[in-house]
Amino acid sequence: MSAVVSLQGEDRSSSSTARPSCPVPAVEPAGHFIASPGAAMVQARDRFLSTGAYAPLREVGARLAADATCEHATVVDVGCGTGYYLAGVLDQLPGARGLGLDTSVSALRSAARAHTRAAAVAWDVFRPFPLADGVADVVLNVFAPRNPAEFHRLLRPAGRLIVVRPTGRHLAELRGRLPATVTIDPAKEQRLHRALGPFFEAVVTEQVEYPAALSRPDALDLVAMTPSARHVSRADLDDGGLLPDRVTVSVLATAYRPR
Ligand SMILES: C[S@@+](CC[C@H](N)C(=O)[O-])C[C@H]1O[C@@H](n2cnc3c(N)ncnc32)[C@H](O)[C@@H]1O
Repeated sequence: MSAVVSLQGEDRSSSSTARPSCPVPAVEPAGHFIASPGAAMVQARDRFLSTGAYAPLREVGARLAADATCEHATVVDVGCGTGYYLAGVLDQLPGARGLGLDTSVSALRSAARAHTRAAAVAWDVFRPFPLADGVADVVLNVFAPRNPAEFHRLLRPAGRLIVVRPTGRHLAELRGRLPATVTIDPAKEQRLHRALGPFFEAVVTEQVEYPAALSRPDALDLVAMTPSARHVSRADLDDGGLLPDRVTVSVLATAYRPR
């Protein structure tokens, strides 16, 4: 089934500060829905992100994008989830438009509404993207799977890939208390560099780390929005002592230029 949610409106009238100009390409999304049982997970993610607990992550992604591109940029967020990070970039770039790709229909419903200049398409990151070569100024990838060759094909030569991923300390308190939660592979950074190295060169990396206070509903949402939810029983969560009231948020955000 074809799954395209069109841009809800394009505001290209805003004036900009000194940014390079860039052409506005035609984006021709097409794709198909892949059934995904993620509605509860997506709702939990939406609620959790709306608390602002990850606002600094959204800010760093948006800043890295805005520093590197023009106001009328085309931004593709791969594994966009609810579109929270894509909307953050679009807010920073008043003439930009964004496209979110994801396999979760529930997530795409949120992503398509995340911003008036965003559209969302069901697509598997491991398939060739339904987009022409060199149409993107920014490819955004936050906590999501990657396809380096396709990211490279999509980006203009002056474009930027922005990857945000967790460090080993991310949510350590939660993982410490709920042993069934998904762990972070210590070799993940090496694997990332090996996978991206042939296609991209890192320009700048920022580390963002801070403690975030968690109410009990926030903590439940944080568990529920990750794949860990499948491994944690309701009884575990009802055990009041198990959920931390504070977690470390710790990520690396890198802007890469295409080789
Ligand atoms: C941890 S979530 C991150 C979502 C969003 N970037 C965020 O941080 O809020 C990972 C996302 O990747 C999506 N995803 C997983 N496998 C995918 C695939 N093969 N192709 C496209 N998206 C995929 C999931 O549906 C999910 O929305």
